[in-house]
This record gives sequence, structure tokens and C-alpha cells, in this order.
Amino acid sequence: MSIGIIGAGNIGLAVAKTLSRAGIAASIANSRGPESLQESVGGLSPTIKAATREEVASADIVVIAVNWSKLPAAVADLPAWGGRIVIDANNPIEAPLFKPVDLHGRISSQVVADLVSGARLVKAFNHLRADVLASDPRADGGRRVLFYSGDDSVAKAEVGALIDRLGFAGIDLGPLAVGAKLTQFPGGPLPNQNLVRIG
Ligand SMILES: NC(=O)c1ccc[n+]([C@@H]2O[C@H](COP(=O)([O-])OP(=O)(O)OC[C@H]3O[C@@H](n4cnc5c(N)ncnc54)[C@H](OP(=O)(O)O)[C@@H]3O)[C@@H](O)[C@H]2O)c1
Repeated sequence: MSIGIIGAGNIGLAVAKTLSRAGIAASIANSRGPESLQESVGGLSPTIKAATREEVASADIVVIAVNWSKLPAAVADLPAWGGRIVIDANNPIEAPLFKPVDLHGRISSQVVADLVSGARLVKAFNHLRADVLASDPRADGGRRVLFYSGDDSVAKAEVGALIDRLGFAGIDLGPLAVGAKLTQFPGGPLPNQNLVRIG
């Protein structure tokens, strides 16, 4: 099961760090090409490789962690998704103004799902600050909780298994219409809830 990450900023690198810690292979891309990522990736395990956006997007599981306004460009002109899994780690708000995006009543994951039509989308890795997500998931005598949600139960189970392998305690929040709404920032009640499952 290959893993790619589009976006190598706070969240993309936090995901790469958790994969690196678990010794899981992944490729990661930004908008400027693999050479620009040598320093960031150099501090991680050799299982994490900088690659082009196209290479990263060919993985079995593709995490997308890009500024909201840049999402359309980040997924433009890629080969068909063909049922592969996309993990939507994005929130509809952007630095430096942090003005919520008008989604016209939709949840942000539905907007992202439309951009990656043909993929099986799972919402995950979006409810914690990047520095918390990047830190050791084994904390306070338990495992840090990560929420995930999606409409395809097989895709969701695969992401749940990955979350477990990374050392987190995954909690399935159900379909996107329920779970993604709970974790979406701004609006949902779960963003920044840094919870630990004991036992
Ligand atoms: N920061 C947090 O604590 C946090 C927490 C939860 C969720 N989120 C969400 O996660 C997403 C990413 O946030 P972030 O803080 O990681 O942002 P960030 O630090 O600004 O990083 C954004 C990344 O996206 C890349 N990118 C932009 N356009 C691209 C394109 N066309 N092709 C490929 N890569 C492209 C950028 O590459 P270049 O540098 O080359 O332009 C950069 O690596 C956002 O949707 C945000 O709402 C953030």
C-alpha cells in the first residue's frame, strides 16, 4: 500500500513525521518540486522521499494537505483516481486572515470530494494543530485520538488501520455528512480537542 502526500507544509510534514516515526514509506510533494524539499525531508527517516506532485498522486493512499484556495491547482491535471483513497486533511480557512470560506451550506469534504472525483475520500488528520499531530501519539499513558470519517466503509477501514499503525487511537465518526462536519474547522466541536484514549 503506497502512500503519497500532496502539500509539504505544517500538516503534510506532520503526517510525514508520523509515518517516518513508524518506519512507513511515503512520498511527499509541494508546488516547487522535490529539490526544494531536500532539507525538510532530510530530517526524516529514509522511508520518506520527496517526489513530484504527479508521482505522489499515483499512490494507493494520497493525503492532501494544501491551503484551501490552492486545492484546485494542487489536484489539477492528475491521472484518474480510479477508486484510490484520498485523505482530506484540509480545513476551509486560510492564513493570514483566517476568514472562513463560504461553502454555501456544504461541508468542506464534499467540496474536496468533487475536486477528486473518482477517489474514495476519507476525512482525517485535520482536527489537531500540526505540532500536536506531529508529536508522539503515545501520550499520558495512552494513545492520542485521531478521528476519521467517510462514505466508503472499505476505504475508511484502510485509513483506520493506518492510523492504528501510526500509534494513534482512531475513532470512526461515520459518514462524511456526520463525521467531517464534527471535525471541520471552523464550525465543528472537535477541532483542537487533544484527546488520549487510555487502555
Ligand atoms: N496548520 C495547521 O495546524 C492545520 C491543522 C489542521 C488542518 N490544516 C489544514 O491543512 C491544510 C494545509 O495547511 P498547512 O498549515 O500545512 O499549510 P502550509 O504550511 O501553508 O502548507 C501548504 C502546502 O501546500 C503546498 N501547495 C500549495 N499549492 C500546491 C500545488 N499546486 N501543488 C502541490 N502543493 C501545493 C505548498 O507548497 P509550496 O510551499 O511549494 O507552495 C505547501 O507545501 C489546510 O487546508 C489547512 O486548513 C492545518
